[in-house]
Amino acid sequence: MDSFATVIRTASHEQHMEAETSTFMSDLLGGRLGVDAYARYTEQLWFVYEALETGAERLASDPVAGPFIRPELLRLASLERDLAHLRGPEWRTGLSALPATRVYADRVRECAEDWPAGYIAHHYTRYLGDLSGGQIIRDKAEKTWGFARKGDGVRFYVFEEIPNPAAFKRGYRELLDGVRADDLEKQRIVAECKKAFALNTAVFRALGEEFPLSA
Ligand code: HEM
Repeated sequence: MDSFATVIRTASHEQHMEAETSTFMSDLLGGRLGVDAYARYTEQLWFVYEALETGAERLASDPVAGPFIRPELLRLASLERDLAHLRGPEWRTGLSALPATRVYADRVRECAEDWPAGYIAHHYTRYLGDLSGGQIIRDKAEKTWGFARKGDGVRFYVFEEIPNPAAFKRGYRELLDGVRADDLEKQRIVAECKKAFALNTAVFRALGEEFPLSA
C-alpha cells in the first residue's frame, strides 16, 4: 500500500497541473503581466497565510496537527515585507480580499478552529507547494520585475531557516505518513486537500479576470 504522503500527492496531481497551467499563473510566469498583478496576487496570499498562521498558534499543541506546526515555515512576516515593498508603507490601507480569497481563508480558519486534521490538508497544500514550485515563481518574479535575488518582493518564497528544502520535504512526508488519523479520516484529509487546490484555482480564476491580457 502507498504511504499517505504518496496517496495525498497522487490524489492532487491532476489539480496541481490545473493550478500550474491556469491562465493567470501561465501569464504571470510567462512574464506577460505587470508587477501590479503580482502585487495583487501577493495580497491574496496575505489573507490565506493570515488564516493559516493565526490557526497555527492555537494548533501547536494539538496531537494531530501539532507536529506540522513549525516556526521556520511561517510566511506572514515575509509577506508583509514584500507588500511594503510592492505597495509602499501604507500597504494595509488598500489591501482587499477577492471574494474567492475570502472563501478560501474562511475555510482555512474553519478547519483551524474545528478540524485539525483538515487543517493539515491546507498546511500541506500551501507550504509544500511554496517549498517546491514557489522557487520557480521566485526566479521568474526576480527576472520579470527586477526584484533583488531573494530580496524584498520575493521574501515570501525564501525560507531563510530551511537551508535544505529537499530534506525538509522528506521530513514533512514522514510526518504525513505518521499522521494520527484512521483510514476514513485520511480519506477526508485527501478530500480536503483537493478542496484546497480547488480554492487556489478559484483565486487564480478571479485574478485572471481582473488582469486579462488585452488580446
Ligand atoms: C506555476 C505554478 C507552480 C509550479 C511551477 C509548481 C511546481 C511544482 C514542483 C516542481 C513541485 C515539486 C514536485 C516534486 O517534489 O517532485 C511541486 C510540488 C508541489 N506543489 Fe506546486 N507548482 C505550482 C503551483 C502550485 C500551486 C498553486 C499549489 C497549491 C496551492 C501547489 C502545490 C504543490 C504541492 C502541495 C507540492 C508537493 C507535492 C508533494 O510532493 O507531495 N503548486 N510544485
